[in-house]
Order: sequence, then structure tokens, then C-alpha cells
Amino acid sequence: MTENGVEIAPADGKLGILLVGLGAVSTTLVAGVEAVKRGISQPVGSLTQLGTIRLGKRTDGKSPLIKDFVPLASLDDIVFGAWDIFTDNAFDSATNAGVLDRSLLDQIGEPLSALTPMPAVFEQKWVKRIHGNNVKAGKSKMDLAEQLIADIARFKTEKNCARLVMVWAASTEIYIEETDVHRSIEAFEKGLYDSDPNIAPSMIYAYAAIKSGVPFANGAPNLTVDIPAIVQLAEQHNVPICGKDFKTGQTLMKTIIAPGLKARMLGLDGWYSTNILGNRDGEVLDDPENFKTKEESKLSVLEHILQTEVYPDLYGDFSHVVRINYYPPRGDNKEGWDNIDIFGWLGYKMQIKIDFLCRDSILAAPLALDLAIFMDLAQRSGMKGIQEWLSFYFKAPQTAPGLYPEHDLFIQLMKLKNTLRHLKGEDMITHLGREYYG
Ligand SMILES: NC(=O)c1ccc[n+]([C@@H]2O[C@H](COP(=O)([O-])OP(=O)(O)OC[C@H]3O[C@@H](n4cnc5c(N)ncnc54)[C@H](O)[C@@H]3O)[C@@H](O)[C@H]2O)c1
Repeated sequence: MTENGVEIAPADGKLGILLVGLGAVSTTLVAGVEAVKRGISQPVGSLTQLGTIRLGKRTDGKSPLIKDFVPLASLDDIVFGAWDIFTDNAFDSATNAGVLDRSLLDQIGEPLSALTPMPAVFEQKWVKRIHGNNVKAGKSKMDLAEQLIADIARFKTEKNCARLVMVWAASTEIYIEETDVHRSIEAFEKGLYDSDPNIAPSMIYAYAAIKSGVPFANGAPNLTVDIPAIVQLAEQHNVPICGKDFKTGQTLMKTIIAPGLKARMLGLDGWYSTNILGNRDGEVLDDPENFKTKEESKLSVLEHILQTEVYPDLYGDFSHVVRINYYPPRGDNKEGWDNIDIFGWLGYKMQIKIDFLCRDSILAAPLALDLAIFMDLAQRSGMKGIQEWLSFYFKAPQTAPGLYPEHDLFIQLMKLKNTLRHLKGEDMITHLGREYYG
């Protein structure tokens, strides 16, 4: 036990990562872990694998790797399971997604081919553009939840896992707002029995995970765990939850650039963002109801970082537009353009242009890995409910009701590292620095 009274259970035994959706992000994650395990590649982009953490004063020279500082599951101990509405195994799905080279996939063909998805909980109205038949039938939504709970238990036994985590990397569901059925555990469970139309498939997975004692991370912008019923359930069952929407691409850039503009007190007239994207995610988001879910998650970022109400002269009246255009030739290789109209001293106008030729799943896969590994750490450290310290990974970080989220990437990183220091009873890093000068 540390000075803070935190006891972290060791990361002994296998960690099962249950992926909802075995599409581009999930297969890029699985392939990456298998490639790193075999020494074929490096886990670039993963803080748990490559990041260090400073302890004590700068003059102490102590900056261990994060994975040597806190007990994390090792990649060698990770096994994957998945659900998808298509029956393709991870090798075929990765081939279809077209993110990774065939020459790489062939080297890890065996574990990828062995990963076949379990039948999914799916309802067409939530994701209109895709049609699969690897789908569970059930008498009610509660019946479907119970089938997932049985899948989870079977997977844990068959794969001999000590612990599990679940990550939602399935398609973005249509936009909905919280309603009565989401507001308490009782209402939600009654809604499951009654197959309430406002309970989304993603919520059924989250319910099944929490009831099974399995942490749940939401990589898409769906409402999913952002409802009182699920938050209360997670607290009641001592299970960590977090979300939502992996912070990659354009929003990552926004949360790097906007804090810099604010730090220098430079004003903003407008920020126009557009993307062309040709993968299945892009196809799903081409539907206006699914795009609305994504748009809400992407738009909130700037208002929070720039603190519109605190700095009305600089940020009180900027226009912020976000577009995603489905353009098949680009596949997973998205192009994100940002045009930023700023103003400086005496109101003189300037422009910044960013053209980010990024690879969506290459950016998202290490985030999914880190989230799984850190959610497992959180559970072994006795943390439950909303895990705000993992805001670093999300476009729309989940926070306690009434608390605004931190979007600034550097504040998020500090929050994450200070949480790790806290767990281990180390001093926080304040960056005050006076101790070095007489
Ligand atoms: N790649 C990124 O940079 C990024 C960033 C943020 C969020 N996301 C989100 O991550 C998710 C996955 O992205 P992707 O590029 O892998 O998409 P994808 O379309 O390649 O894969 C999603 C998979 O989920 C499956 N699916 C849909 N509904 C399901 C359900 N109810 N149960 C089980 N499986 C289901 C689909 O059949 C598909 O195979 C999307 O919601 C996307 O918006 C991705």
C-alpha cells in the first residue's frame, strides 16, 4: 500500500481485451500487438509502451518508463475477443479495411485468422448504412444483455483470463439525447425487459460489461456510458468506465493548436475543418443522423479550451464548422483540412492552414491499447465509475455532471501522469521550479 492508501493488485495472469466491432481500428490494434509481440514493429503512439514519467526534482534524474513505474499488463499477456455483425475473422477484416500492408498481415496471419467475432447485438435503426447477419436474436433487450454476459463468462474461462476489459470500437450510432429510461438503474433495467426503443445496442454491451465486473471504454461518440443509469451501475459494481470518441486526427490537432493560441492571447474569428475519408466509418458517418453524433463530439472542443465567456473579446464570436465527406478512393487515409482565421496585436488578421494527411486507424489503435491497459490498472487500483484521468484519449471526455471537461492535450497529459504519481504515493509535479534557485 502507498502513502495515499492505494493498493494496486499485481497484473498477474492474462488480460482479455473484448472489442465491440472488429473493423479498421480493432484489427489494426490486434495486428499491431501481435507484430510488436513478435519484434516485427514498434508500438509507436502508445504512452503505456513508450512513455516515461518524471519523478521528483529535475536534478534527481528519475524518469522511468510508465510501464516500469506502475504494474501494467504486458503485451505478452493480452488476448483478444470480439463481436461484429459480419463473420469475417480479423485477418479478412484487416484485409478489407486496407490499413495495413499485406506483407505485414501475412507475418501475423495465424493469430489474426484465429480471431473470429461472436454474434453481435445490433439493430439496424442505429447504424443504417451497413448490413450484416452475424447478429443475436433475443426475446427482449434484457435477453440480449444476458447473452452477452454469457459470452463474456465463456470467453474468460476458455481463454483462461485473470481479468477483462471491453472497448467499444464499433460503428457510430445515431444521435440521441438522454431520456427517462436512462436516468436510473431501475428505469434502465425495466427498459431492457420492455425493449425500450431508446436503449441503444452500445448501452446493452456496457450494461453486460459492468454486470460482469468488466471496465468499459467508449471509443465512439455514442451516448452509451454518458447516462446516469450506467454511471450509477458502474459505481455500484466497482467498475471503471470512460469515454468518449478516440481523440485522433483533426480534433487531436485542435487540442494541440488551440491551447497555444490561447496561451499567447491571440484571437479567433473562425475555424473551418473539413475531412475526406473513404473507409467504412466514413460511409456510416455519411448518414446525417450518425454524423450528428460525431459533430456534437467534435464541436464542443474549442468552446471549452478557449473559454468563450472568460475572453469574450478574443473568443466570443468565432464560427466553427466541421464537415466529414465520404470519398471512397482515400480509404482509411483521411485528409483533414483546417483553415484557422486568427487575429493579433491591434486586431490584425492572420491565417493558419493545416493539411493533415493522416491514417485514422494508425492513430486510433494505440489509444485503444492504452485505454484497455489503463482501465485494467484503474480496476486493480480500486478506482470505479468515471475515469476523468483518461480524458487524454477522448474528443469528448466524460466528467462528473456539472463539471466541464479538460480538452487541452497538455493539461490532460498532466492529469494522467499526476494520477499515476498519486497512485504510487509520489509527489505531484507542479513546475514551480523555485526550489532550484537559492
Ligand atoms: N479511427 C479513428 O481515428 C477514430 C477516431 C475516433 C472514433 N472512432 C470510432 O471508432 C469506431 C470504429 O472505427 P472503425 O474505423 O474501426 O470503423 P469500421 O466501420 O471499420 O468498424 C466498425 C465495426 O463495427 C461493427 N459494428 C457495428 N455495429 C456493431 C454492433 N452493434 N456490435 C458489434 N459490431 C458492430 C461493424 O460491422 C464494423 O466492422 C467508429 O465508431 C469510429 O467513429 C474512430
